[in-house]
Amino acid sequence: MLQHSAHFIIMNQTGRDPKLWEQGCKDDPVRNQVVLPDLIECLDRLRPTLIGDVGSGTGYLSRAAALHYAYPAHWFLLERDPRMLQFSSEICATKDGLEVVDYDLVNPAQEWDRPLDLAFSCFSSLDFGMTTAIAGNLERLLRRDRATISFSKVLDCMSAGQYSYRAVEDILADKTAAAVHSFVIVHDTRRVLSFRCGRFFPRTDPLYGRRTIGLGGAVSAKQVDLLFESMFGIVASAIDELCSGIGLPRRLAERARYGGEIKPWFGVHSSRTDHSPTTLHMVLSYRCPAEFTPTKAALSVNDLRWIDPSTMPNCLEDYDTTSQFLLSQEYVRDLVRQAT
Ligand SMILES: C[S@@+](CC[C@H](N)C(=O)[O-])C[C@H]1O[C@@H](n2cnc3c(N)ncnc32)[C@H](O)[C@@H]1O
Repeated sequence: MLQHSAHFIIMNQTGRDPKLWEQGCKDDPVRNQVVLPDLIECLDRLRPTLIGDVGSGTGYLSRAAALHYAYPAHWFLLERDPRMLQFSSEICATKDGLEVVDYDLVNPAQEWDRPLDLAFSCFSSLDFGMTTAIAGNLERLLRRDRATISFSKVLDCMSAGQYSYRAVEDILADKTAAAVHSFVIVHDTRRVLSFRCGRFFPRTDPLYGRRTIGLGGAVSAKQVDLLFESMFGIVASAIDELCSGIGLPRRLAERARYGGEIKPWFGVHSSRTDHSPTTLHMVLSYRCPAEFTPTKAALSVNDLRWIDPSTMPNCLEDYDTTSQFLLSQEYVRDLVRQAT
């Protein structure tokens, strides 16, 4: 262990060499036998979806932890050293869900706009210290709203058997129950698709009669599919809605299904009304392929429009509550920025 400490200190004097640092991480018993198991235990307990590794260095710890984490997640590796950034970017380029970001925690050049469910750092606070100001900067990385729930937490409840497939009338009658609906946002590199749910839409759905940016509906037992990760039917429900609502052709639907093109994001709670039960909108995203132009394929879907999520729509109150939340909290703007 002493040898390891000496090794890291020498690197510090000349600027850290990413290759040597990576080798040091691989050989380090503290990272591998103490920190990594601790981090995995914490991930399994908290089930975060958006995770930040602050002062990630070569990204060794995140890459290792991501291999053990079985839930949908996106990892941001925040680092300011250009050599570390270059090294980890090259490794992470071939890995799904790991994104290296040039970010200085002490003097951030811009507001962090992808609120995290979990932020951690491994030995990095030795570099940047921990003053009240830095603790505040760390806190600003985290999700502040209370309206969302991570996708993995919901899947966790389902894996534990805390769900059943019931008629909507039963759910309406039971004030302690919530319906689970898919809510897929179709976007390109600048815009998201919006439309109005007309009177052919089920009246018990919170989207009935509203303008929305989410295509979806109740998740049913028949949508559970063992041939791909349908997430208890949530992803399959989203694909069904893309086909029936806006005419996604079968070939693209199959590609979306087996190619993992429907990305889970998080759940948003929508309050019960006289007609609709409490609903958990499981928000997913789908990047519209260039060869596909959405059309009005169902009687219930009207007035399709692409909107720019970086300017608030004039008639925000016209939208359903989940769309209002996602647009006003700029989640959708960030989604589209990320796709650019
Ligand atoms: C001791 S190393 C740890 C690296 C990595 N977490 C690990 O376990 O191997 C600290 C890392 O924090 C980074 N760092 C230092 N100050 C930082 C800051 N203000 N913002 C972002 N990263 C910083 C350094 O460049 C370095 O890569």
